[in-house]
Order: sequence, then C-alpha cells, then structure tokens
Amino acid sequence: MKLRYFSHSSFQITTDDGKTIIIDPFLDDNPTSPVKSNEVEADFIVLTHAHGDHVGDAFKIAKRCDSLFICVNELANYCSDKGFQAHNMHIGGSHRFDFGTLKFTIAHHGSMTPDGTYGGEPAGVILGIEGKTIYHTGDTGLFYDMKLIGEMNAIDYMLVPIGDNFTMGITDAIKAVELANPKIAIPMHYNTFPVIEADPQVFRKQLESLGRNAVVLEYGEEILV
Ligand code: NI
Ligand code: MN
Repeated sequence: MKLRYFSHSSFQITTDDGKTIIIDPFLDDNPTSPVKSNEVEADFIVLTHAHGDHVGDAFKIAKRCDSLFICVNELANYCSDKGFQAHNMHIGGSHRFDFGTLKFTIAHHGSMTPDGTYGGEPAGVILGIEGKTIYHTGDTGLFYDMKLIGEMNAIDYMLVPIGDNFTMGITDAIKAVELANPKIAIPMHYNTFPVIEADPQVFRKQLESLGRNAVVLEYGEEILV
C-alpha cells in the first residue's frame, strides 16, 4: 500500500487494489498543504475528531467521491445528518472493512464541531491493512495507555503530533513513541500555524539517538509501506 502525507494530520492510504482512505483531510484552508481537496480521491474518510483542522474538506470530498465516513458514533451521526453515508463506531471496537480493519482508541483532546455540535469523544485510529499496522494518534496529549496499545498491536507506523500547544510537543511525542513502540514514527500536526511550530528533524534525531526509527515526510510525499 501507499501512504501519502498532505501536512498537518492529513494522510491518504491507497491499498494495492486501489482503495483510498483519507484521514483528517484539512487541505483547502491549510497553508502548508500542496494538494487541494479537488485533487484527492477517497472511498473512505476517517475523522479522528470534529475540530475544523481535521474535518477540513471532508464534506466536499465526500460529495464528489461518494465516500463513506468512519467516525465515532456522535460524529458519524453528524455526517449522516448532513446527508452523507457513515459507519458509526466507538472507542475500543474494531470492524473489518473491505480495505482491512479499523479500531478507534482514546485520545485526550476535545471534539466539538465548528458549528458547536457535540462530536463525541476524540479518538486515535489503528488501521490494519495488507499485513501492516498504522496508528494515527489523532490530536492528543501523552497518555500511559499508549504502552497498552503497543502491547496489543505490533505497530509498523505511528503518526504522532509534535506541534505542542494543542497536542503533544516533541518531548512528550518521543515518550509516546517509546510507550507504543512502533517500527517507524512519523511526525505530524506541526508548522501549520505559528503556534504549533516545531522542528521535525529534532524529533527524528532524538528518536534515532534512542535507537528508534523516524521518517519525516515532505508535504505531499507518498511512500510505499
Ligand atoms: Ni483538535
Ligand atoms: Mn488539530
């Protein structure tokens, strides 16, 4: 499969048989994304929580691509109420889709929609696709259950926020990687706005000095995973 990073917390997964999954598509109003919402495809849209920098252009994309939303119950209902297809889940439950498995985890954050609707609990998400496990933490502070998540899942790629202020900063993100123990860590949620400026190379170098692997993806870069 392929993993593409648009910037902020936005990623696209393309499976070997061509299914597309987009996570947190914040593109058009995102000053760092080189890709805009009319340039992406999404059979599935996964939202970790309801904040504007994560819901982003999801409705525009879903309308054009006839995407299925996958979210925690309250946010899924919010999407359904707007006329979109949604699969309702909640934290701790997994489900097999035709691309693979998906399970939401806890995240310490908020989740109100931009129009003030309660979006349910914020979440992280664990995807099991083509034998690989990807853990996108969503927006979150550090929590010790990341150790449990790492014990229960052999994580290949951990997508972890480093921008501080709203989420973990670099120091906490490094601890998060030590707890969850992925093969490779990828930083996200940094440099989009001045308040979340962070140097992803500092994160990478500090992890490497601990004998761990990190990859800093360029905005728009796609890798084979
Ligand atoms: Ni947020
Ligand atoms: Mn955010």
